[in-house]
Amino acid sequence: MRKKGIEVSGGLRTEAESIEGSLNKELFNKNPSDWEKKMENFPKYVKRQNLTRFLALYEIFKQIINVKGSIIECGVNHGYGLMTWTKLSSILEPVNLTRRVYGFDTFEGFPEPSKHDKSRQSEHVKAGDLSADTYEELLALNAIHDKTRYLGHIEKVSLIKGDATETIPAFIETNPHVLISLLFLDFDLFEPTKVALENFYDRIPKGGVIAFDELDNPLWPGETQAMLQFFEKESLEIRRLPFDPYIGFAIK
Ligand SMILES: C[S@@+](CC[C@H](N)C(=O)[O-])C[C@H]1O[C@@H](n2cnc3c(N)ncnc32)[C@H](O)[C@@H]1O
Repeated sequence: MRKKGIEVSGGLRTEAESIEGSLNKELFNKNPSDWEKKMENFPKYVKRQNLTRFLALYEIFKQIINVKGSIIECGVNHGYGLMTWTKLSSILEPVNLTRRVYGFDTFEGFPEPSKHDKSRQSEHVKAGDLSADTYEELLALNAIHDKTRYLGHIEKVSLIKGDATETIPAFIETNPHVLISLLFLDFDLFEPTKVALENFYDRIPKGGVIAFDELDNPLWPGETQAMLQFFEKESLEIRRLPFDPYIGFAIK
């Protein structure tokens, strides 16, 4: 059973997992090499779970490599997914200049959760959780990346700041050309997930991928509820990757 008052982020970690980061940090700080050398050797310091995430996103990306359309990252937070999609695109398909990566986030954390986000095991969820003020940083990092990637003069990443229940319908209205090869749903909450499905689904061609990060997860009932409400009686074939516990994805 989960303990009461458990953290929104990292709440299921064991004691050893909780201290792994700080132990790695000590060794990182003790190593006399410069920062760049340490970054080049990042698997030494990055936790297995974070490497797993990268491999999982790579597997999802491979599913859409031959599908036309852009990538929509629903929930940017610190930018792990956004930057992974961006760099995978510049590594694996450098000439795919029309594949853009659109990231939606408040950059101020959750708005007020709805009743669908509350259950006995998710009472902890509240407005302002998962706040990450990374908008400017991500723009700056992408400007640096644009200087070294192929066709870097053509914009790859767009960040759309604000409550997605408002910014997504406005985005659809003002971007009639956008097709979506990958809809990555990681808002964690019911309302923005439902709005994303309602607005983006018709823009996904057959073969495109709809991926969810929190299905069947007792901490985040809203995402499952949004999926069930949107697809109603349509039986969606939701697959998973053998080595990752979180991502569920369907091919349209
Ligand atoms: C789990 S994090 C996303 C993690 C991210 N995909 C990654 O790769 O690390 C969830 C994010 O969704 C954002 N979010 C939740 N509800 C939102 C809404 N209605 N509008 C905009 N952003 C929202 C939060 O601000 C938070 O940064």
